[in-house]
Amino acid sequence: MKLAIGGKGGAGKTTLAAALARRAADLGRAVVAVDADPDGNLASALGVSEARIPRPIAQMRELILQRTGAQDQGAGLMFKLNPRVDDLPDRFSVDAGGVRLLVLGTVESGGKGCLCPEGALLKTLMQHLLLRIDDDVILDMEAGLEHMGRASASGVDAMITVVEPGMRSVQTATRIRKLAADIGIKRAFVVANKLSRQQERDLLQRALGKQTIIGMLPFDEELARADLEGRPLDLKNGAFVEAVNRIGETMES
Ligand SMILES: Nc1ncnc2c1ncn2[C@@H]1O[C@H](COP(=O)(O)OP(=O)(O)O)[C@@H](O)[C@H]1O
Ligand SMILES: [Mg+2]
Repeated sequence: MKLAIGGKGGAGKTTLAAALARRAADLGRAVVAVDADPDGNLASALGVSEARIPRPIAQMRELILQRTGAQDQGAGLMFKLNPRVDDLPDRFSVDAGGVRLLVLGTVESGGKGCLCPEGALLKTLMQHLLLRIDDDVILDMEAGLEHMGRASASGVDAMITVVEPGMRSVQTATRIRKLAADIGIKRAFVVANKLSRQQERDLLQRALGKQTIIGMLPFDEELARADLEGRPLDLKNGAFVEAVNRIGETMES
């Protein structure tokens, strides 16, 4: 299963990505969790200690130059659009209790189709993860889908947008749905997070219109406290984990 997770900042993308990755690993599957949010903290959510958090691949200047063969030539910058990347997941991921974590980082000049060596390497790596390896891949995206082009999108089985109670979050979801459709992701779902009352569910459902809510995650005091105190998610059994399991099962069915 290759899954992309988006949503407004703070909605719970990283929390859900970490929880789904943990679930996959606990089921004995090979899973790569990809931090594709420039302001990401998937590593901490997965309990990787500060000292072991890998450097974002986008910042590995030497590697990028070497793999893309980038060089200035009279007419401009020349580099390979299809650099070798197949060894990168093994070399640069860290193990987080059976989850392989990869941190991508930001391409400075940003945006879609950045024509720069960093962009070419990240794009090729994303395609490798989504189209050429069998591992489950869970992408913790930035709010939009800035890292994703059509080729990568064709390897994504489904996109989940995390929505918290609030109209701004719903607006972001609607925007992401359109972006996802534009790049060719056919299955796009919503997970409603941090719910405390039935009324919130009803309001959200109404605001989301036709978008399908495939899961509801309760507001979990312990999760909020863990982040306040700088601890990783400690996913014990409970309503939150059960809801995550149901989402995982629904995605796979
Ligand atoms: N279901 C939940 N219950 C309580 N707190 C939550 C829940 N989901 C996320 N949080 C908290 O909300 C904050 C933002 O979550 P995070 O996953 O980092 O969002 P994002 O990656 O979308 O920016 C964190 O402090 C996190 O612990
Ligand atoms: Mg995040």
